[in-house]
Amino acid sequence: MVALGLSSTEEAKRDKSKISLPRPLSGTVVLLGAGGGIGAALLDQLCRNGHVKQVLALHPREVSTCDPKVVWLPLDLTAPASIASCGAALKERVAVVDTLICASGYLHGAHGGPEKSLAELLAADLVHVMSINATGPLQLLSACLPLLKRASAPRVCFLSAQVGSITDNRLGGWYGYRMSKAALNMGVKTAAIELERWRNEPSVVAVHPGTTLSALSRPFTKRRKLPPVSVAECAERLVSVLEHIGADDSGRFLNYQGADLPW
Ligand SMILES: NC(=O)c1ccc[n+]([C@@H]2O[C@H](COP(=O)([O-])OP(=O)(O)OC[C@H]3O[C@@H](n4cnc5c(N)ncnc54)[C@H](OP(=O)(O)O)[C@@H]3O)[C@@H](O)[C@H]2O)c1
Repeated sequence: MVALGLSSTEEAKRDKSKISLPRPLSGTVVLLGAGGGIGAALLDQLCRNGHVKQVLALHPREVSTCDPKVVWLPLDLTAPASIASCGAALKERVAVVDTLICASGYLHGAHGGPEKSLAELLAADLVHVMSINATGPLQLLSACLPLLKRASAPRVCFLSAQVGSITDNRLGGWYGYRMSKAALNMGVKTAAIELERWRNEPSVVAVHPGTTLSALSRPFTKRRKLPPVSVAECAERLVSVLEHIGADDSGRFLNYQGADLPW
């Protein structure tokens, strides 16, 4: 993979001699969170990509688009039955999935925002955030395995978050979100190891999209020194990262420039 925007020292640290050419997203793409901020911008990119033949757009509510290659399927990540029926609907519609992108996510807790202290923890809220950010997406990956197994060099990308990094946690707070993204990251790493045994060169990665203006981030972007990027810019950067990943990159936690983040 080409590490986008890395310094030469950082690149040297990467211990990768292979520079691969970009491989456009193509064929059938499953997109979770297709009606969210970043998800909708990714959907727009996929619609404009002539190599992509079909997009299965998963979201709790109908995703409105006039592009005939987009098919909406309902999915509630908090409900195992909804994940199972979505998995069954995918298998009825397609034989192969070339790319699976998870752009769904949840941050705001019952207090109107993420928890600032242990005193604010609510068990039900922790279960809720865990099911949307970690267990639900991994259950959907599990349902998609037979379809990904039939693809040539399938790609799986979960949008994670840098605040899910245990090493990088210097500020504390945001218990549920941090814990759920750390759990997602462990799921990604473990799935990458499991899928390494496949012969079709799959790649499974976690990607931090960077601070992006969306419903999820809006309350927290005012005090930042650098303005957040637009969802359109974020989607462009994510597609570029995805186009550069291959089997050698499986199991990595990347930022939007394709550089490694600490777990
Ligand atoms: N924006 C940032 O700065 C930023 C930074 C780091 C990481 N991320 C990550 O990037 C991803 C996309 O974030 P975003 O900024 O686009 O947020 P967003 O606009 O809030 O989109 C999140 C999407 O997840 C969907 N979702 C929530 N609960 C769900 C459920 N139970 N079942 C299925 N889908 C559900 C939401 O559906 P509804 O439309 O129904 O709410 C929404 O479409 C998330 O994983 C987030 O953690 C974002």
